[in-house]
Amino acid sequence: MNGFVPPFPPRHTGRLPLPELLRRARRNFLEVWSADQFAQEVIVTRVLTQPIVVCNSPATVQAAFIDEAAALERKSPQMRHALEPLLGDGLFISDGLVWRERRRAVAPITHASRLAELAPAISGAAAERAEAWAARPPGAPVDMLAQMAELAAEVICRTLFGRRLGAAAAREVVVSFARYQAAVPQIDPLSLFGLPDWLPRPRPWRLRAEVRRIHAVVDRLIGAVLAGRDGDGTSVVGAMAAAGMGATACRNEAVTLFMAGHETSANAMAWAWFLLSQAPEAAARVRAEAVSALEGRAAGWADLPRLPFARAVVEETLRLYPPVPLLARLASAPLEIAGHGVPRGALVLAVPWLLHRNPRLWDEPDRFVPERFLAGRPRRHAYIPFSLGPRVCTGAQFALAETVICLSTLAQRFAPRLAPGARVMPVCRLTLRPGETLPMLLDRVA
Ligand code: HEM
Repeated sequence: MNGFVPPFPPRHTGRLPLPELLRRARRNFLEVWSADQFAQEVIVTRVLTQPIVVCNSPATVQAAFIDEAAALERKSPQMRHALEPLLGDGLFISDGLVWRERRRAVAPITHASRLAELAPAISGAAAERAEAWAARPPGAPVDMLAQMAELAAEVICRTLFGRRLGAAAAREVVVSFARYQAAVPQIDPLSLFGLPDWLPRPRPWRLRAEVRRIHAVVDRLIGAVLAGRDGDGTSVVGAMAAAGMGATACRNEAVTLFMAGHETSANAMAWAWFLLSQAPEAAARVRAEAVSALEGRAAGWADLPRLPFARAVVEETLRLYPPVPLLARLASAPLEIAGHGVPRGALVLAVPWLLHRNPRLWDEPDRFVPERFLAGRPRRHAYIPFSLGPRVCTGAQFALAETVICLSTLAQRFAPRLAPGARVMPVCRLTLRPGETLPMLLDRVA
């Protein structure tokens, strides 16, 4: 098989002592899994008082996230407490009636049927990034993670808020959210000790300043939309206000869409550039496909069927480095998964990081081989970068269109190269990132 094996943290064998497990979970969640757990169908364990069930096969993820979805609607306490300061009761972390109402209001905004209408704004943002790169000297150093985060933030703003974000505001959100992720606790010790959910969790003071900065940017956008200034009239905020959502609900959903919609796509695109920089044949094929389909233009909605290899690269990137590497739910009732009794209060996880590298489901699972996505669709529920079931990502089709449009548009003119000496290792924060930065050099296409 062609391709190369991109980096992943070393895998231990056997069981880790509890203090070591917790230390690793806090540092980088990807380091807690032993080599043999990648092939297990289901992992049943307990950390302190907390029962945990990890679903790691198509049948078990389907059982938990589809068949038992009603009892597993609630996100884990860790996820809720980590995001609540920023998202409030935004639908990413809410449940029950609030989640249902918000989902109904928000899901249509990025529905596949609207993509043709939203795509020109994506193409515009990609074309402007290409011009900004072209204005720099060949080989200029960039932090590709920040570049892609600013591009994705700009895309969300133009598509969902109907207006430009602008470089300074984009940078502010990107820097603040990176700091937020670094500061947020990766585990919730209180729930591991069985303490109730309503007990307030200690919050690092640094979070508050970052939240204030992000909220200020989003509030400015909302204010401008509601005042009807300089937008193109298609704004999601206008639609939410017209649907009768109050100011706080509107702000929480706007922040949710902004965050859920830019950080994940940004990580996917940054990882794709890294992978292509290490795989010259795949990079050349992406470029040749883009040059022939686009002839120098920015990619648009109608071009997507002519960019199958770029799409395969994006899908393989999402398999190897799923931006949301861990899906966690709290069981609100006792249930059963693959014959294992799951008590109320257990944490039920699907871990794309494990499932996507399960050797029973994938040939040479650690290898970067985009061609595997050209050969046909993966087995149902073996590939879940966007989750599955009622809480599946509402932006999945949007994200696929966005990442292919941006990569193909930029790959026509640029062949980013990893900066000499840069060390890349996936780290699990709220999302899976290639470290805190991704230093690359903006080489031109020869
Ligand atoms: C490559 C890019 C993306 C990836 C990998 C991704 C992945 C995910 C995943 C895994 C979830 C579910 C988490 C869970 O089950 O615990 C989710 C939820 C969500 N995503 Fe995405 N996402 C991406 C892009 C987007 C975009 C572009 C938008 C909107 C413009 C978006 C909006 C949302 C929303 C609103 C939810 C919450 C849905 C709910 O809880 O009902 N995402 N995403």
